Amino acid sequence: MKRVVEQTGPAGADSSFSKTVIRWQKQYGRHALPWQRTRDAYRIWLSEIMLQQTQVATVIPYYARFLERFPDVVALAGAPPEEVMALWSGLGYYTRARNLHRCARQVVAEHGGRFPKEVEALANLPGIGRSTAAAISAFAYGTRAAILDGNVKRVFCRAFGIAGFPGTASVERHLWERAIALLPESDIESYTQGLMDLGATLCTRSRPDCAACPLQSRCVAHASGRTAELPERKPKKAVPEKSTVMLVVEHRGAVLLEQRPPSGIWGGLLSLPELDRLLPQVPAKIGSKALVSALAEFGEVESFDALQPFVHAFTHYKLTVNPVRVSLSRSFMLASQSSYQWIPKKKLSSSGLPAPVRKLLDTL
Ligand code: ADE
Ligand code: SF4
Repeated sequence: MKRVVEQTGPAGADSSFSKTVIRWQKQYGRHALPWQRTRDAYRIWLSEIMLQQTQVATVIPYYARFLERFPDVVALAGAPPEEVMALWSGLGYYTRARNLHRCARQVVAEHGGRFPKEVEALANLPGIGRSTAAAISAFAYGTRAAILDGNVKRVFCRAFGIAGFPGTASVERHLWERAIALLPESDIESYTQGLMDLGATLCTRSRPDCAACPLQSRCVAHASGRTAELPERKPKKAVPEKSTVMLVVEHRGAVLLEQRPPSGIWGGLLSLPELDRLLPQVPAKIGSKALVSALAEFGEVESFDALQPFVHAFTHYKLTVNPVRVSLSRSFMLASQSSYQWIPKKKLSSSGLPAPVRKLLDTL
């Protein structure tokens, strides 16, 4: 059999890890999944694509229906796309279904209807990444190739105490090197399935069952009590912070509100006037001069009072709201085409207001 040179671990690599995984898989791993006990690359490929982002229990009925309708890659390649999509519907991540169909057609057109044996050739097909290519080649052809899906990354990060977010290029490179170095000389099928089974059944994201784990005695995360910290989570991006001065302008039981433009945050909602929308430049310190000038077209300022600032979290940024309450001694009629309007306080509860604005008005 052709060996992939890159996949060969360094001489003298520790074989006790793979031996432990293989022994455990044979005794305690999963053996009766519908895509096991076959060497049919089509069936194995189909299962691996379905299992990429979906749990085993969800996949099983879809897998059975798919095989019933498309028993081989030629049948799938010849199907209309709508039928493939219909059978996939409910599994989610529909790019997988489109790639699945493209892949079947490519296997028929370019590989004579047989899935290639080589990991590199498999990985060149649509929807098949490096890890999936290795799994297919290992299960279908016994190729000694390394897998590294999310579950396996978690097992490796914990067992070897690998720091850093596994999605980072350098950590990922390190994990691939490990995965290759750990490959067993034989029994690649049990080893590959064993890594998947460990990750899915014992070394779960939360509350791993270390007491039942064959790697426990050699596991860095277990020994150092860091199973909850490893693998490290994706570093949070710094959330941009913005701030605004919101005016609660009152006159005779009414509050001045602005209809927000249709695009942008709070599009189309009524909201409180904001100083940066009324003045070309907002001064660092808000005093009567700024307020008089900002509100010149709405009325005459009688008094004002800075209220407690608060923070509102949007998905992509944090907004610090600095509210200022302003009383007018008299108000002007607003032109009917103005986006500003006086709303009687009694009617505020039935107006479409953004949540933080409603919260602020409720406190007054
Ligand atoms: N997840 C990905 N591949 C799998 C397989 N062959 N068996 C169980 N779960 C899997
Ligand atoms: Fe995962 Fe626990 Fe096993 Fe370590 S001992 S590999 S943390 S299940």
